Amino acid sequence: MNHQQSQQLFSEALQYFPGGVSSPVRAFRSVGGTPIFMESGKGCHITDVDGNTYIDFCCSWGPLILGHAPDVVLQKLYEAMQKGTSFGTPSAYELALGKLIVDNNRFIEKIRFVSSGTEAVMSAIRLARGYTQRDKILKFEGCYHGHADSLLVKAGSGLVTFGISSSAGVPQSVADSTIVVALNDEAAVRQAFAENPDIAAIIIEPIPANNGLLVQNRDYLAFLRQICNENGALLIFDEVISGFRVGFEGAAGYYDIAPDLVTYGKIIGGGLPVGAYGGSKTLMSYIAPDGPVYQAGTLSGNPMAMAAGIAQLSTCLSKGFYEQLEQKTAQWIANLNQHCESHGYPCYFMHIGSIFWIVFSQDHTAIRAAEQIDASSMQYFRTFYHALLERGVYLGPSGYEVGFVSAAHTTNDLVQAQQAIETALSVVFS
Ligand SMILES: Cc1ncc(COP(=O)(O)O)c(C=O)c1O
Repeated sequence: MNHQQSQQLFSEALQYFPGGVSSPVRAFRSVGGTPIFMESGKGCHITDVDGNTYIDFCCSWGPLILGHAPDVVLQKLYEAMQKGTSFGTPSAYELALGKLIVDNNRFIEKIRFVSSGTEAVMSAIRLARGYTQRDKILKFEGCYHGHADSLLVKAGSGLVTFGISSSAGVPQSVADSTIVVALNDEAAVRQAFAENPDIAAIIIEPIPANNGLLVQNRDYLAFLRQICNENGALLIFDEVISGFRVGFEGAAGYYDIAPDLVTYGKIIGGGLPVGAYGGSKTLMSYIAPDGPVYQAGTLSGNPMAMAAGIAQLSTCLSKGFYEQLEQKTAQWIANLNQHCESHGYPCYFMHIGSIFWIVFSQDHTAIRAAEQIDASSMQYFRTFYHALLERGVYLGPSGYEVGFVSAAHTTNDLVQAQQAIETALSVVFS
């Protein structure tokens, strides 16, 4: 493959943007090489500026559950766009998307639209603090919740620790109100509550998918529900990835566990910038203008973004949508694992619904916590990544990122991708 145009554009972009990009992981630092500049996408295929075409499993990091530029979304967008791009007033599109979600989701009685996942999480945390009149937040090592200050915090040493900021510029006083514990560890959560009666909320990705795919036991999530109840804290499910991905009700519905607040992003906007947070009427009545917790946005509920969301989510609601997506993914993953096993490769593919992750390890015990991931295995991913890219398959450029199968991936596409993956694996292990 020739990547000349991408290379040229990237060297120019380096002069204008930090790292040449608008979001760090796009810079290819963890796999090496030059980012590919994409020009167009349709279905599960994307084409770069040099004319190379790829089967895409990054899917814009999750939003594109129908694939690229689905006609249903384009039509609705075009309809909305012709009427105007933004009014800064309520709109019927916003109402329609809100109704679509609330009427089909047992866990949301009222919802507020924002413009990104980060904003959704930041606002839900403020609401939890405002409602409980407590300051501390408990989060888990290995979960990512966007880049709000209080969540850019990682574990210090010890079982239960106050966080240390994982980014320069986050005041220690902010990190001090975030407690970080390992996933899948009940004792650590119990200890955190014993030592801190002022925890406002636990926030978790119920399907942690930002540091590999760290699928939790249902019992563990039920335990979190229980301990929040016992301690007067709120349970926040950050469903920016899992929302509308593993089912219309996200992980809350998948596990049948009711969080107090849910945050959404990605799929909800049909490929446009949308986030949202929601919960019971009582909790949401704390949000301005009804209540004392302030939160606002110039482009919140933007009509074009709402229209794209309506088109995408209506399609997701069609009968059998999630079952088909899950079955297709499960079969593909089973085929890939069979191949790895028959060749004795020290790697395997994990999946839940249409989210998947490749682990370069012989150990097939379920990985549930970040510390179980062997950082040295990422060297295999680097080789795998470039071997795959050369064969026309695009993944997110980091071994800690998950991949997504969309409704647009046909059986043929998956077979083709499988062949490329098998060859790439033979390169890795040759
Ligand atoms: C679980 C989770 N929460 C929050 C965010 C932040 O969303 P955004 O990038 O839209 O700000 C992400 C982004 O990947 C995410 O995966």
